[in-house]
Amino acid sequence: LAASKVLIVYAHQSPSSFSAAAKDAAVEVLKSENCTVEVSDLYAMNFKATATAEDITGEVKNADHFCYAEETKLAWEDGRLCADITEEQRKLNEADLIIFQFPMYWFSVPAILKGWFDRVLTLGFAYTQDKRYSQGIFENKKAMLSFTTGSQETMFSPNGINGDMNVTLWPLQNGILHYCGFQVLAPQIFWDPVLAPLERRNSMLEAWRTRLQGLLKEQPLSFTPMCCFDSEKGFQLRPEALEKHANGEFGLTVGIHLGKPLPPNNQMKAGV
Ligand SMILES: Cc1cc2nc3c(=O)[nH]c(=O)nc-3n(C[C@H](O)[C@H](O)[C@H](O)COP(=O)(O)OP(=O)(O)OC[C@H]3O[C@@H](n4cnc5c(N)ncnc54)[C@H](O)[C@@H]3O)c2cc1C
Ligand SMILES: *[C@@H]1O[C@H](CO)[C@@H](O)[C@H](O)[C@H]1NC(C)=O
Ligand SMILES: *[C@@H]1O[C@H](CO)[C@@H](O)[C@H](O)[C@H]1NC(C)=O
Repeated sequence: LAASKVLIVYAHQSPSSFSAAAKDAAVEVLKSENCTVEVSDLYAMNFKATATAEDITGEVKNADHFCYAEETKLAWEDGRLCADITEEQRKLNEADLIIFQFPMYWFSVPAILKGWFDRVLTLGFAYTQDKRYSQGIFENKKAMLSFTTGSQETMFSPNGINGDMNVTLWPLQNGILHYCGFQVLAPQIFWDPVLAPLERRNSMLEAWRTRLQGLLKEQPLSFTPMCCFDSEKGFQLRPEALEKHANGEFGLTVGIHLGKPLPPNNQMKAGV
């Protein structure tokens, strides 16, 4: 894994933000680890967030009923996707690890980063009907979320007012990253830097710098492999897999919980 290439997709408006400091720490530490680091600074790039027909150069197949996924698939095959998407796809292709650095917005990502997911992870390029999840296109790449919150950690605990952070992470980590095949590394969460005293802000950044040194050697989170689901039965868990877990204490993952308690730390820690 020597000389890995890292892409940081960064979504904060201000270079003096805590998010910027987290991004800068990643650039510095990963470079000192001899990684090649590229940053997509989405606001600085004025990155377009909306998935529209303008993302395609030349004729679209069906202008009366424009379907983004199908049209971008054709455009991708013909090299007719617009320049900013093509450039992000090049960066993604070259990267071994992608870090998404952002402030949490509405339990999710800022619109500009959602736009990056919507527009860069196109059908054909990032996923197909056959190539998804554990058989996904980016199975040899790693990806992770690194984000700041306005909430305290206790608010996102299983009995906190916002509910369990593992649940909040499932759509992003399973529905986007793992869907495209990425091995998903545990998230890096900077809890509430706005109210944190300087000392805690500094120690959060220091912990991040330490983690970054071993990041590429980390084991990814576990997801249920594609082979456990039957495509003939609407991709439901196969009876064998159901039986195997029937007496288990926990569900398989946050989403595929089989009506049982959630497996502990399922979206937070590797190999559990
Ligand atoms: C539209 C919207 C939706 C939101 N939705 C949610 C939500 O659903 N859930 C939730 O929890 N929060 C939510 N928030 C809050 C948001 O997530 C936080 O405000 C944000 O994550 C804080 O991170 P920041 O990088 O912007 O911090 P900043 O405000 O930029 O920084 C915090 C502090 O760190 C300091 N700092 C900067 N650099 C350094 C450094 N190098 N070392 C030490 N200190 C430094 C800054 O000066 C500042 O004092 C939302 C906010 C918005 C605008
Ligand atoms: C990075 O590369 C330099 C020069 O090749 C080498 O001396 C150094 O040990 C490398 N550092 C790491 C962390 O691999
Ligand atoms: C999810 O993650 C948190 C860490 O924030 C952990 O403490 C919590 O108990 C987890 N929930 C479950 C069901 O594991």
